[in-house]
Amino acid sequence: MKTRKNSFAFFGGAYGDEGKGRIVDKYVSDWAKKGEVVVYRDNGGANAGHTVEFEDGKRIALHQLPSGVFVENTVVILGKGMVLHPADLLEEIRQVRQASGGKIKAKICIDEMAVLSLDTHRAFEAVLKEWQEGSKGATGRGIGPAYADVLLRHPLRMRDLATFSEEKIKKHYLLYESLIFGLGRKLAETLVPRLDKDEKIPVGTLEAFTEQLRKQSRELSPYISSVFDLLKERWADEKTTFIFEKAQAIGLDPRYGVYPDVTSSDTTLGGILSSTEGIINPEKIETRAGVIKATYMSSVGIRKLPTTMDETLATKIREDANEYGATTKRPRGIVYLDLSALRFFREMGLANCLVLTHMDIVYPNVPIKICVGYEKNGKEVSYRPDQEFLNQVTPKYIEMPSWSKDKISQAKTLADLPKEAREFLDFVSRKIGVPILMITTGPKREQGIIF
Ligand code: IMP
Repeated sequence: MKTRKNSFAFFGGAYGDEGKGRIVDKYVSDWAKKGEVVVYRDNGGANAGHTVEFEDGKRIALHQLPSGVFVENTVVILGKGMVLHPADLLEEIRQVRQASGGKIKAKICIDEMAVLSLDTHRAFEAVLKEWQEGSKGATGRGIGPAYADVLLRHPLRMRDLATFSEEKIKKHYLLYESLIFGLGRKLAETLVPRLDKDEKIPVGTLEAFTEQLRKQSRELSPYISSVFDLLKERWADEKTTFIFEKAQAIGLDPRYGVYPDVTSSDTTLGGILSSTEGIINPEKIETRAGVIKATYMSSVGIRKLPTTMDETLATKIREDANEYGATTKRPRGIVYLDLSALRFFREMGLANCLVLTHMDIVYPNVPIKICVGYEKNGKEVSYRPDQEFLNQVTPKYIEMPSWSKDKISQAKTLADLPKEAREFLDFVSRKIGVPILMITTGPKREQGIIF
């Protein structure tokens, strides 16, 4: 298939938190110097988290807004496939405005078809958490219930907020009030997290809930529109660069992840096709990069991955790489690199290249242990996203020598890479089956090498 020039997609190529926000930041900033960039996000909502660090050391976490919102010459689009929490989104816009010196550099467009994820959803999820196992790991941002509204055919959309359909909002509140009452709780009193509050707050009465939304409607309306004409026109003009920023990761997709620690959105590039109503076929995107961590993998939740790591090394990596959730602050589980799983995610993700982050997480005289395949009942088997299956496999490992952390952190070009790092990259790329686009060699913005 002929690809569309100047188009890039970045997605999590494992179980999340691979550091793709930073890669997107870099590509947006570099390409925006040459011309207009459209940054499009099609999935997830306030469950994502990506911290942007400024030169003066100030940090700000983006959750719903795509990276690129700090860059001149960009249009950032929050697509139909997203679930958006208006109050948190307004707070994020306020923080971005403040950090940008009073004026936001990018143009923000919210698709009027994007689905609302409200305090009602957060409250329902909080109550469900006590009631069923599957919700326990959720970020508490009401993502699952908001997507469930779509499947149950009663979602509220941004358009309903903009036109302020009071009747629909009332019906929505009453539905969640009954659901929560059915589980023995009161919606108005249920506590929910908010981006602008340190403590959780009660959802409040129907009147209070409606009034808050009315105010949010006024403030968000200027950003809400139908984005399809704009998308069609810009996609047809190959001079405009497109950067697709996926949220979460293939291993968290409800169909391709290990249940129950899965999110609810389509984390594959397929989500772009549906979110853009077919305007953008993801197979036409020229660069489709699965972002993974180079020397280990991380996982949040109760899923048990086969490549369990020695706990002393896992603890060291957790501290050195700050492996704590950006949204929930939860410590992440650390496991050995699993090429069997990564091959599966590459295929499901339609990746044609890889970005490897965290190349500096290596230790002297500690070889890198890599799972190259599984055995089950004496037979070679491939990865499957099923906990029962994964409990029965035995990983087969090889070890490769590590490299100097100092050397890799200072490397500016491919030629500066230690020999061991180059051999490792060749091996991983060959085994996963696609070339490498870029690596990162340390936490600073400039510590990245494009292949
Ligand atoms: P939800 O997305 O809040 O519904 O959470 C469902 C599952 O996805 C939980 O196990 C979360 O920890 C996981 N999850 C959601 N977003 C992320 C992320 O950005 N990184 C890692 N895990 C995530």
